Amino acid sequence: MLKNFWYALEFADKVTREPRKITCVGQDFVVYRTEAGAPVCLSDLCVHRGGALSMGKVTGDCISCPYHGWQYNAEGVCVKIPANAEERKIPRKARVDAYPTVERYGMVWAFLGDLPEAERPPIPELPEHNDPAFRAVQFEMEIAANYERTFENVVDAAHTPFVHGTAFGNPDKPGIPDFRIRQTEWSAEADIQLSPPLPKGLWGLLARRRPRAEYVTVTNAWYLPNIVKLHVRLPMGDLLLYDFNIPLSQERTLVKILGYRNFFTGAWADGNARKRIEKILLQDQPVVENQRPELLPFDLADELHVRSDGLQVAYRRRRLELIKQGWWVGGDDIITGDSPRRKATVIASPVRRDNPELASAWVHKARTGGNPQ
Ligand code: FES
Ligand SMILES: [Fe+2]
Repeated sequence: MLKNFWYALEFADKVTREPRKITCVGQDFVVYRTEAGAPVCLSDLCVHRGGALSMGKVTGDCISCPYHGWQYNAEGVCVKIPANAEERKIPRKARVDAYPTVERYGMVWAFLGDLPEAERPPIPELPEHNDPAFRAVQFEMEIAANYERTFENVVDAAHTPFVHGTAFGNPDKPGIPDFRIRQTEWSAEADIQLSPPLPKGLWGLLARRRPRAEYVTVTNAWYLPNIVKLHVRLPMGDLLLYDFNIPLSQERTLVKILGYRNFFTGAWADGNARKRIEKILLQDQPVVENQRPELLPFDLADELHVRSDGLQVAYRRRRLELIKQGWWVGGDDIITGDSPRRKATVIASPVRRDNPELASAWVHKARTGGNPQ
């Protein structure tokens, strides 16, 4: 799992004044909104006795722990210890990591890492979000597979005729013509020619009235650390899926999807659009849940790649570079869902780096990154 990235943690409308527990990169966070409506993301681990702040209460801009009521502000600093006499000073160590948080494209994003602002990789652009021609639906599903397996599955064009049959691919035309990959530091994208059959049901009605090309250009893209875009140009319009593959643990992934379409843009067609997304995921689910090894190998030679795997190979190579930079968390680090532990570690937030005088102020040690083997 990669730190030092903006992670889309939750649909923005689910982040309210009620604290909400979020798991990502094998760590628990609490998200809520300040009185002014700004989203906040803190480590969910109270430094007193490890209470889950997400089970506590939000008052003003602060959250109080459900166990002994310690109150933390939106910067993660403890401002009240109810059991202490008023005049007693609050220890400097009474603070939790607070992560930079923004709301964009209908999602709440938190920067899970300690890089200074200027060095942070960007949040990818989702231009359809603010385009009135498009209508969005949300969808989510938990999958019992590692997030890199589900991530690679979505950019993988060659599996569609086999896993999705006629719903999406075309079993009679499984060939993938060569494609060119456009890569940046943080993303890769390719236009791939597929020849899917006409959609069935409601969408088919509209498609049959439009002229049909022999090929449909599908744009597959990935954006680090965990987002995949699928842009399908159907006869009746554009369908774009943005998949956020959120690593809950090494072996569980919460897939959140924003699906945009510029046809049948009435709310009445949302249920149908969601059902189609669900159908695709249910077809992928048993395949990715049964891949072995469960975790994506680090060594490229540990699996066999062919031409049509170009986007996945580009991902694996880029990931190796970032591992060398020390951006990997995993291995011996504490991962939620693993067996009970006696120590908890968290992803260091930028506050630690910005304030060197706080070097000894942290109860929970930072995840070390480093050697993933
Ligand atoms: S565990 Fe949070 S206040 Fe005691
Ligand atoms: Fe798939």
